[in-house]
Amino acid sequence: MMPVRSIEIAGSTVRVFPSASLACVAAADFITRTIQEATEARGRAVLGLATGHTPLPVYKRLVALHRAGEVSFRDVSTYNLDEYYPIAPTDLQSYRTYMDRHLFDHLDIPPNRTHLFDGTVPEAFVADYAATFDRWIAAEGGLDLQLLGIGRNGHIGFNEPSDVSVHEALRLPSRLMALHPITLADAAADFGDEGLVPRRALTIGVAPILAARSILVLAFGPKKAEILAQALRGPMTAEVPASLLQSARARVTWLVDEAAAARLG
Ligand code: PGA
Repeated sequence: MMPVRSIEIAGSTVRVFPSASLACVAAADFITRTIQEATEARGRAVLGLATGHTPLPVYKRLVALHRAGEVSFRDVSTYNLDEYYPIAPTDLQSYRTYMDRHLFDHLDIPPNRTHLFDGTVPEAFVADYAATFDRWIAAEGGLDLQLLGIGRNGHIGFNEPSDVSVHEALRLPSRLMALHPITLADAAADFGDEGLVPRRALTIGVAPILAARSILVLAFGPKKAEILAQALRGPMTAEVPASLLQSARARVTWLVDEAAAARLG
C-alpha cells in the first residue's frame, strides 16, 4: 500500500492518502481527539459539520467509534454549514434528514444541541435568522473544529464563487445565497432532477468558518483535482472560495486522496 504523504504548499499542510476511506478514518480520529481535548479543557466541544457525499464515511466511522465506547457526544454541540431554502426539515432531501440519518440518530448527542438552519423560516426574517446562527456559535465560545468539503466550483458551505474583493469575502457572514449552476447540477441526482433542486440555501459565512480553531478539509476523486490545485496554489480570490482558507493556513489540515492530489505536483 502507498504510504500517506505530507505536502507543504505555501504554508498549507496537505496529507495525501492512498484512498478516500483511509483519509476518512484519519478525519474521524481527528474529530474524536478534538472532542476529547475540548471537553477536557472547556467541558464541551463545538463542531461545525458538513453534508454531501464526501463526509459520509467519516460519519460512519464516528458512529462505529461511539458504539465501541471510544467517544461520547454528550457534551458536544454541532452547527451544520448549510441547508436548502426553502425546505422542510422532514423533507428526505433536507440536510437535517441527512444528518439525523447518517450521524445524530446513532449518537448520544442531546437533541437540542444539533443545529441546522431551518429552511421554513419566513423569508422576511431570513437575514436576521442567519445572523442569529453566528451569535449562537459565538455564545458557545466558537467552533473547535470545522469539517469542510469543497465543491467543484470551489465553494465552502454554500459560499459560492463571487466577484467581491478578498477583503469583503473574508468578512462574509452567514446568509441566504443563490446556488451556483455547478452546485445545482451536482445536486440534481439527489433530487431526481435539476429542476427540483431549491434555488437558494442558507449557509454559514466565510468569516465564521475561518474563525474555527481548527479546519479539516476533505477532497476526494479526480473531479476535485483541478479546484484543489486552484484553492492551494492559486491566488486568494472570492472566485474560488476555498482559496480563502489560505488566510487561516496554520489552522487548516487538508486530507485528500491521490486522485484529488493529481494536480498538486
Ligand atoms: P460532495 O460536495 O461532498 O458531494 O462532493 C462537496 C461540497 O459541495 O462541499
